[in-house]
Amino acid sequence: MAHDIPLNPHRRIRTANCMGWSSNTLNELSELFVQACSPATTALDVGAALGIATIPALATGATVHANDASAEQLLNLQQNTPPEDRQRLTLHPGRFHRDFKYKGESFDLAHASNVFHFFTGRQLEQAAALLHHVLRPEGKVFILAATPYMGPFTDFIPTYEANVRNHVLWPGWIENARHFSNHRLIDQFPKSIHLLDHTVLTRVFTSAGFEIERSWTLRRRDLPKSIHYDGRENVALIARKI
Ligand SMILES: C[S@@+](CC[C@H](N)C(=O)[O-])C[C@H]1O[C@@H](n2cnc3c(N)ncnc32)[C@H](O)[C@@H]1O
Repeated sequence: MAHDIPLNPHRRIRTANCMGWSSNTLNELSELFVQACSPATTALDVGAALGIATIPALATGATVHANDASAEQLLNLQQNTPPEDRQRLTLHPGRFHRDFKYKGESFDLAHASNVFHFFTGRQLEQAAALLHHVLRPEGKVFILAATPYMGPFTDFIPTYEANVRNHVLWPGWIENARHFSNHRLIDQFPKSIHLLDHTVLTRVFTSAGFEIERSWTLRRRDLPKSIHYDGRENVALIARKI
């Protein structure tokens, strides 16, 4: 059936709204998020797509609120959730942060994997501020995003590195991704993309009131070979609300 998460290892599922692909393999950062969940946890999954992290988080006994800009994908997520876990799942269709209304100090953990590189710098700052608002004191965010060291964007690396040297505020922002990439799958991405790095994520989340617990670059285990570059394709960050 169309809504099933395929069981083939490392198979990717194209998102319904040209926002890249959802993986069916839990990446290293999402795995740490799931390990932090327990029956006592109330968690928020931003850009949850088909539930690659939401469903295992629910399996720990946690209560999970799944947000995604695509309502269709959230309905698929709900159908893919084992019946015994569905009562602890709440769907929040809409764009984060704009459409997400929630009272302060509601969540223990928040997870946003492969979604913040679709945000402008300003949206990223607003998302970090909202995450700070909705998390309880000591609550944690788990973030993973694409960096400029991604196979399809190698032509952008010199511009990015010059932007860093020139202290450009958002050095990885690409207004028109097609100017830097003719990758065969580029049409499955939005026009603009915001390739992120440790410095930008650290600045945004520190300014929003978080203490960085850990930040590192990696090649996530489910990254397709066709977009490999040099092992720095992704950046991950775990931060605690102070
Ligand atoms: C590449 S998928 C990532 C799915 C999953 N989190 C993962 O790590 O595989 C990106 C998802 O983010 C969603 N998305 C993009 N912008 C969003 C926004 N502003 N608010 C909520 N969801 C958004 C898309 O609809 C898509 O389902």
